Amino acid sequence: MARKYPLLARVLPTALIHFFSRFWPPVYLSHVTGVRSEATGREIEGWLLACSFTARQMVRLPPQTVYKKIVRTGRLAQRLGARILGLGAFASVVGDGGVTIARHLNIPVTTGHSLTVAVVVETLLEAARCRGIRPALTTAAVVGATGSIGSACAELLAPMVAELVLIGRRESRLAQVRARVETAGARLVRTSTRVEDIREARLVLSATSAAKPIIQPQHLKHGAVVCDVALPQDVSL
Ligand SMILES: NC(=O)c1ccc[n+]([C@@H]2O[C@H](COP(=O)([O-])OP(=O)(O)OC[C@H]3O[C@@H](n4cnc5c(N)ncnc54)[C@H](OP(=O)(O)O)[C@@H]3O)[C@@H](O)[C@H]2O)c1
Repeated sequence: MARKYPLLARVLPTALIHFFSRFWPPVYLSHVTGVRSEATGREIEGWLLACSFTARQMVRLPPQTVYKKIVRTGRLAQRLGARILGLGAFASVVGDGGVTIARHLNIPVTTGHSLTVAVVVETLLEAARCRGIRPALTTAAVVGATGSIGSACAELLAPMVAELVLIGRRESRLAQVRARVETAGARLVRTSTRVEDIREARLVLSATSAAKPIIQPQHLKHGAVVCDVALPQDVSL
């Protein structure tokens, strides 16, 4: 908001920005050019569009209200000539993760989650290498382990680390993810509903859809490597 409308952001109180975001139309941000596909060598173009809700409104409003604006944003993408729609940040978190939105558009819709999961796990392991941490001898924690991204990351990490701590809000869902990571080759798994329990982990991957930071400095082990995928961030700055 502050970047696109600096003046408005200065005069409007935050509560009003949340409120008015409900009535804001989809916003054209930029035309992206100059990206070349490694696979085909062809140049790719795209458009960055904003489905102008604040993250808080996206999770608080009824999903049908949010779907309507995401579909309007998707139709704008179609009119511009897009042939695939990527849902960023909370647009893919709301409701059924893009299924309803795809039904209302003529172009395919992706959350991009597979790419996110692959890149996040690779980044965490690379950061561990840089810090001289050997994952096979290390405890790793996944916060938001019951989510779409968190559970897939936990499965990928499972056979690579000594111990996996899965943090979520619901015991029943955690038990399901635990079964999946054990099948994926986890050696030792603990589940917890308390974020404080990441204190023993040297590797932390966080991917919740909390609207505010939930990881404070005192929750972290000294020297821990943290990869925070969440938007808005999970880690307090
Ligand atoms: N950086 C990127 O490229 C990228 C790409 C895609 C998504 N993301 C971000 O990744 C995050 C996760 O996306 P997702 O699609 O995996 O979401 P999701 O499937 O809805 O999962 C969200 C997870 O967060 C937990 N959670 C929600 N609110 C919480 C709170 N207040 N305190 C603690 N845990 C809470 C949920 O627990 P329950 O199971 O109990 O509901 C669930 O485990 C989002 O922030 C999204 O914006 C980033």
